Amino acid sequence: FRPVTELTVSLNGKWTLSNSNGSLLLPAEVPGCVHSALQQQGFILDPYFRFNDLSYRWISLDNWTYTTTFTVPPQLRVKRKVLLVFDGVDTVASVSLNGVTVGKTDNMFRRYDFSVSDLLKDGDNVLEVNLLSPVVYASERRKAHSSYRVPPECPPDVQKGECHVNFIRKEQSSFSWDWGPSFPTMGLWKGVQLEAFDILQLVQVSSVPLYDSSVSQWKLQVELHVDAVQTTNGRVTLSIPELGTEQTSQMQFLQGKTKNSFVLNINTSSQVKLWWPSGHGDQHFYRLAVRGFQDGFLVLNTESKVYFRAVELVQEPVVGSPGLSFYFRINGKPIFLKGSNWIPAHSFQDRVTPAVLRNLLQSAVDANMNGLRVWGGGVYEQDLFYDICDELGIMVWQDFMFACAMYPTEDDFIQTVREEVVQQVRRLKSHPSIIIWSGNNENEAALATDWFNIPAAQRPTYLKDYVTLYVDNIRQIVQEEDQSRPFLISSPTNGAESEQEGWVAANPYDPHYGDVHFYSYTLDCWDWRTFPRTRFASEYGFQSWPSFSTLHLVSVKEDWSYDSNFTSHRQHHEAGNQQMLLQAALHFNLPNSTDPLRRFTDTLYITQVMQAQCVKTQTEFYRRSRSEIIGGEGQTMGALYWQLNDIWQAPSWSSIEFGGKWKMLHYFAQSFFAPVLPVGFEDDETLLVYAVSDLSHDLKLRAVVTVYSWSELDPVCTRTSDLLTVPEGSAVPVFKQPVAALLAGCGRCSRPTCLLTFHLEDGGGQQQGPTNHHFLCSPKDAQGLKTPNITAKVQQDESGFTVSLHSASVAPFVWLDVGNVAGRFSSNGFLMVSRNRTVRFDAWRPTSVAELSASLTVTSLTDVY
Ligand SMILES: *[C@@H]1O[C@H](CO)[C@@H](O)[C@H](O)[C@H]1NC(C)=O
Ligand SMILES: *[C@@H]1O[C@H](CO)[C@@H](O)[C@H](O)[C@H]1NC(C)=O
Ligand SMILES: *[C@@H]1O[C@H](CO)[C@@H](O)[C@H](O)[C@H]1NC(C)=O
Ligand SMILES: *[C@@H]1O[C@H](CO)[C@@H](O)[C@H](O)[C@H]1NC(C)=O
Ligand SMILES: *[C@@H]1O[C@H](CO)[C@@H](O)[C@H](O)[C@H]1NC(C)=O
Ligand SMILES: *[C@@H]1O[C@H](CO)[C@@H](O)[C@H](O)[C@H]1NC(C)=O
Ligand SMILES: *[C@@H]1O[C@H](CO)[C@@H](O)[C@H](O)[C@H]1NC(C)=O
Repeated sequence: FRPVTELTVSLNGKWTLSNSNGSLLLPAEVPGCVHSALQQQGFILDPYFRFNDLSYRWISLDNWTYTTTFTVPPQLRVKRKVLLVFDGVDTVASVSLNGVTVGKTDNMFRRYDFSVSDLLKDGDNVLEVNLLSPVVYASERRKAHSSYRVPPECPPDVQKGECHVNFIRKEQSSFSWDWGPSFPTMGLWKGVQLEAFDILQLVQVSSVPLYDSSVSQWKLQVELHVDAVQTTNGRVTLSIPELGTEQTSQMQFLQGKTKNSFVLNINTSSQVKLWWPSGHGDQHFYRLAVRGFQDGFLVLNTESKVYFRAVELVQEPVVGSPGLSFYFRINGKPIFLKGSNWIPAHSFQDRVTPAVLRNLLQSAVDANMNGLRVWGGGVYEQDLFYDICDELGIMVWQDFMFACAMYPTEDDFIQTVREEVVQQVRRLKSHPSIIIWSGNNENEAALATDWFNIPAAQRPTYLKDYVTLYVDNIRQIVQEEDQSRPFLISSPTNGAESEQEGWVAANPYDPHYGDVHFYSYTLDCWDWRTFPRTRFASEYGFQSWPSFSTLHLVSVKEDWSYDSNFTSHRQHHEAGNQQMLLQAALHFNLPNSTDPLRRFTDTLYITQVMQAQCVKTQTEFYRRSRSEIIGGEGQTMGALYWQLNDIWQAPSWSSIEFGGKWKMLHYFAQSFFAPVLPVGFEDDETLLVYAVSDLSHDLKLRAVVTVYSWSELDPVCTRTSDLLTVPEGSAVPVFKQPVAALLAGCGRCSRPTCLLTFHLEDGGGQQQGPTNHHFLCSPKDAQGLKTPNITAKVQQDESGFTVSLHSASVAPFVWLDVGNVAGRFSSNGFLMVSRNRTVRFDAWRPTSVAELSASLTVTSLTDVY
C-alpha cells in the first residue's frame, strides 16, 4: 500500500504520562487519553460512575506530558526526509524531540507532521508532548479576545460543564452538552509514527466520481497528495481492472507538498454498477490501482476502493407553495432520508472500538434507517465509521464541527480551521456515504433568532464573523476541494433562500425552505397538528431514560428513585425529568407502585413508552407528508430524529442506550421506517390511513382496519378499503371514514372501549409492511383494559433463542427485558392483541435458556399502576 521507498516506524504503544508537578507518573497507551490512562492504572475509578464527572474535574485543569523513548533503525536515518507524524493530538501541545521543540498543535481535528531528520540520533531518542489544560487555554483565548464577547461563554449550570469551548478546536461536546458529561479530554488520540522517504511520499489519495448526464459518462477524479523531496517526473497509471479501464498520464510532482489531479474516463459502454443507499440497491465497489514510475522504477503504488454514485440537493420552485423544495436525488432518484443523528459514541474516543461502531451502525440499518447526520458538536468520525456506512448504504449528512455558538475569527483561528477543513475534506471525500457537507449546527438559527441577546448595534459584527468563517473560508475550501456533493451553510437553514438573505435568513426554521429542527416537550405529541410540515426534518425528538440494567452499572441503591440526586445529576436538560412525566401523563397513568425500586423501573419504562410513541407519531407525519402540499407546506423528504446513540448512561433523546441496548423507540423505528408503511391518523374526527412506499415500483394496496375492544382478544370487526395504486416513492391515502361511522357499524364500540389496528395488503391478500395501531382515546381513559398476566417461556432451537408469550387480555406496549444480557429481540414494545406471540432473541454474547429465563421481565402498560 505504501510507496516502495517509504519506511514507517510506529511510535504507538506504551508511553509515560505525568502531570505538571510530577506527583503522578504512570504508563499510558498511545493512542489514548489522560482519563483512560489514569483509569487503566487504577488512579481513578470509572469516570462514568455516579458523580465522578465532578470528582475528576481536576484532570483537565492540569497540564500533562506524554513521553516516549525510542531507537530508530539505521535505514531510516539515511532517508532524505524523515517526518514525525501525529494523526491526532488533543489538543494544545508543544512537541519536543531530544530536548528541541519541533512544533506546536492547537487543533484536535488536524494531522500534524514535523520534519525531524536532523534531530534523530543513534541510541535513545526522547519524544515529549506537553499538553496544556484545554479549559485553561480556552479561557486564556477568551481573555485575549477582549474587544467583544463570543457567546455563549459558559454552558447552562444544569450541564455542569466548562466555559469557552468555542475558543478551542476540539470536540465541542467535551466541555458538556445537554446529553453528556464534561470530560475535556487530553491526549494523543490517534496514531504517532515516523515516516521516512527518499523520493516522495503519498500523503493522501482520494477519488470522487463525477457523472456527466449529457453524455451519460462517469469520470473519476483522482487526487494524489504528494510530498516530494525534489521535483519528480515520470508516468502515472490509473486502472480499474473490473471495468477494463486503464489510463497512463505524464506526471510531474513538484518539490514539496502538492496536490496532483488526474481524470480517469470510464468507457461509456461499461456497465458501471452504482452505490445505492440501503433499501434502494447494492453498494458495489471497484478497486482502483494507482502506480507511479520514475525511470522505470515504481515510486508510487496504492490501491483503494472506488464507488460510483451521484448526489444532487434539489431546491426548486414547488407548485402550490411559496418556497423551494429540499430533497436529495441519488443517481437521479429522489430519496427520502430516514434515520437519526449521530453523536460521539464515548467521551474517550480510544474506547470507540470497531465492534462498538459496527454494532451501532448495524442497529441503524436493522431499524430500516438509510441516513445519519454526523452532528457538528462531536468529531469528524474515524475512517472505519465511513467505511461501514459505505458498506451498509447509510447516507451521511456531515457537519463541520461547529455547534450552538458564535466563533472567533482571529487570523490564527481561521488558519487552523482552514487546514482542518482541507484535511478532513481530502480524507473523507472518497466515501460515497457522505452526501452533503454542512457548515455548522444551529449557528444560523442562533444568530437569526438571537439566542445570545446580542444588542442590535453589534449584530453586524457577528454576521460578518459568521460569513467570514462559514462562507469565505469553509465554503470556499469545500468548493475548491470537492465538486462531487452539495454544501449547505448550516442546519437548520433555508438553503438557497438563506443565501439570498445574506446567509442568515430571518427565519431559518421556515417550513417552506431547507431543513428544520423542531422540539416541543409540553405540547401533546400525539397530535400531529403540533408539528411543522417541513420539507426536511433533520432534528426532532423526545427524551427518555435508559433501562435499569444500563444505569445499574454506574449507580448504587440510594440512586434508584426518580427524585434522587443521581437522577437529577444525570439530567443535563433543564426540567427534563419533569417534562418526560408531564408528556407521559397526557396519555398514561404514571407508575405508583408502593415498592420504591419497582416504581423507579416502571418510571424508566413509561418514559420509553412516551418517547417511542411521540417520535413514532412525528415520524409517521413526515413520511405521509412526502407527496402532499397543504397550505403551501409539505413534500417532506427527510426524517432524522434526534438522536441515535448515547455518550454515557443518562437520560437523553437517544433510541440506543450507551452499551448498545435498544430502547423501545429503536424497536418502533424498525416499523415506522419500514419501506412500506401504513400510517393512521385522525383529521377532524375522520380516520385516514395512508400507504407510504419507498419502493422503486408501483404497488396496488388496500388498507385493512381491525377494531378491537380493550376488554377482549377477539376482533370486534374489520373494514377493508378498495385496492388503489401506490406509485413508487409516494404516500397515498387509501382509507377514509369518520370514526363515528366506523364505530357505529361495529356494534359494541365507543372511543373509550375500543382501539384499532391496521395493515396494508395487496390484491392477493398478502400483507405488505408492518401492522400499525391507532388509539381512539388515551390508554389512561381506556375502559375494560385489564392486567393481562403475561407468561413467557424461553426456548432454544437451531436458529437461537425464542420467547413464547401468552396473554389473557389486550396488552399495550409489551416490553421484554433481559437485563444485562446483550442482544436484541426481533420485536419489542408491541401491542399484543393475540393470546400467543413468539419473538426471537438475538444474543450478542454467549448465554443460555437458564440465564435468559432468570433475567427476563415482561412489562405492559397496566403493570405499572
Ligand atoms: C500536584 O498536582 C495534583 C493534581 O493537580 C495536586 O492534587 C497535588 O496537590 C499537587 N502536589 C503538589 C505537591 O503540589
Ligand atoms: C500549565 O501550563 C501553563 C502554561 O505553561 C501554566 O501557566 C499553568 O500554570 C500550568 N498549570 C499547572 C497546573 O501547572
Ligand atoms: C470502450 O469499450 C469498447 C467495448 O469494450 C471498446 O471497443 C472501445 O474501444 C472502448 N473505448 C475506449 C475509449 O476505451
Ligand atoms: C443530595 O445532595 C445534596 C447536596 O449535595 C446533599 O445535601 C444531600 O444529602 C444529598 N441527598 C442524598 C439523599 O444523597
Ligand atoms: C390477572 O390476574 C389477576 C389476579 O390473579 C386477576 O384478577 C385478573 O383477572 C387476571 N387478568 C386476566 C385478564 O385474566
Ligand atoms: C398459546 O399458548 C398457550 C400457553 O403457552 C398454549 O397452551 C396454547 O396451546 C397456545 N395456543 C396456540 C394456538 O398456540
Ligand atoms: C395507582 O393509580 C391507579 C390509577 O390511577 C389507581 O387505581 C391505584 O389505586 C393507584 N395505586 C396506588 C397504590 O396508589
